Amino acid sequence: MCNPYIFSASWYFQLTYAGESVGLRNLPKISVIGTGYVGLCTAVGFASKGYNVLACDVDGEKIAKINQGIATFYEPGLAEKLSESIQNGHLKGVIGQTDRVISETDLTFVAVGTPSKPDGSIDLKYIESAAGNIGKALKKKDAYHSTIIKSTVVPGTTQNTVKPILEKKSGKVAGKDFGLCMNPEFLRQGSAFQDTVNAERVVIGSFDTRSGDVLEDLYKGFYSEHVPAIIRTSLSTAELIKYASNSMLATKISFINTIANMCEKIPGADVKVVAKAMGLDKRIGPLFLDAGLGYGGSCFPKDVKALIACSKSLGYDPVVLDSVEAVNKTQPLKAVTFCREELGGLEGKSIAILGLAFKPDTDDMREARVIPIINQLLCEGASVTAYDPVAAPIAKTIFNDKINYAKSAFECIKNADACILVTEWEEFKKLTPEDFTKNMKQPILIDGRRIYDPETFKTKMRFVALGLGK
Ligand code: UGA
Repeated sequence: MCNPYIFSASWYFQLTYAGESVGLRNLPKISVIGTGYVGLCTAVGFASKGYNVLACDVDGEKIAKINQGIATFYEPGLAEKLSESIQNGHLKGVIGQTDRVISETDLTFVAVGTPSKPDGSIDLKYIESAAGNIGKALKKKDAYHSTIIKSTVVPGTTQNTVKPILEKKSGKVAGKDFGLCMNPEFLRQGSAFQDTVNAERVVIGSFDTRSGDVLEDLYKGFYSEHVPAIIRTSLSTAELIKYASNSMLATKISFINTIANMCEKIPGADVKVVAKAMGLDKRIGPLFLDAGLGYGGSCFPKDVKALIACSKSLGYDPVVLDSVEAVNKTQPLKAVTFCREELGGLEGKSIAILGLAFKPDTDDMREARVIPIINQLLCEGASVTAYDPVAAPIAKTIFNDKINYAKSAFECIKNADACILVTEWEEFKKLTPEDFTKNMKQPILIDGRRIYDPETFKTKMRFVALGLGK
């Protein structure tokens, strides 16, 4: 399957060395454009299994770090494999140089960002730019090359935006002269590298059968010990599968939050027990039924909005998704309402916030639920002290000196009038009622993620748990 390529001297040496070091021959050579979460995990995943990979980004600083074997973000397991792959020559980072990347590899994954526009639709500028560069490079390449879109793009994008750009810039015909696939990712932050090397499913949307076959073979080799279910489909179905999956998970969260909000009005009702019992029904399943302050992160909020915008542009009003979003928008503010009710007003009160990241085990604060909570508390005249095991540096770029940053959970709750638990970090689960009663001015705890046992806490302090009937 390998085509003869003209290599630069250093890359040729590395490929030869890498091939010999593990006795691997004829493995397709892979390039990845974009070295964010998805791109870098994909690049390192393949490299860690002996494939030769070029990781390409326009950001010179990122590439310099990658080439020193340093991961540009934290993901369990990634740093070790990255450093190993750089050292053994299976992975190499390059700045730009799309011509070289295309000429020296057999297939290219595109994993550039697709941010939201103000109206919720996705901004395709990075996809368009990557496609333009790949198209120009394909013009100079005689051998068949596959381009695989891994970025999350709305249905129709690969067919109607990427394909025309590739064809125009290359002067060639998709499906005949080059291959085109759409292969969505399902990686979770915090386990993105593990999810890369142990996938539950692989979705391959292909424009042409040949590139779909090439990609299927690649994955069968990559997952040789445990090949997951492989779904072959059209480009637009593959694109929709990604949005439908994330929107379904977001729907489960907004649904259980709706039930939680009802439980609060039903004496004796508890959403945790409702969710546990519901989850035992195989048709529902237990996951993503943790009621809380809503979903955040770089994916669910953006993807639900994009699917809504896409659906509306097609002339269909997705009322279910509108409601999912509406519930998620108001859910975090419930923590502020609880606080206001318990304290009889927020003016001049000192509020402790435990957790800033959008979920535990990450420092990512994109669309973190804590942002509207803190903004509202400040707006109503409260002073805020926050603690997060890792996200404080990011929080400082958002809130600057508008809030105080504590160095520990104890420092955070010291002399506070009330505390809101926003992110369910493991270290917060170990806190006892005494930790709060001994340190706070008034022991009022709002458990926004249901990590504490109400029976234990209720008897010792004023305790409000989300989704628990009074
Ligand atoms: C999500 C999906 O889980 C991945 O499958 C997908 O590939 C990824 O988006 C993506 O599109 O790239 P991620 O954003 O890393 O992954 O985070 P999740 O673990 O799914 O959590 C998202 C948010 O939902 C968090 O704010 C979390 O606190 C919240 N959540 C999750 C709940 O409120 N309740 C739950 O039961 C589960």
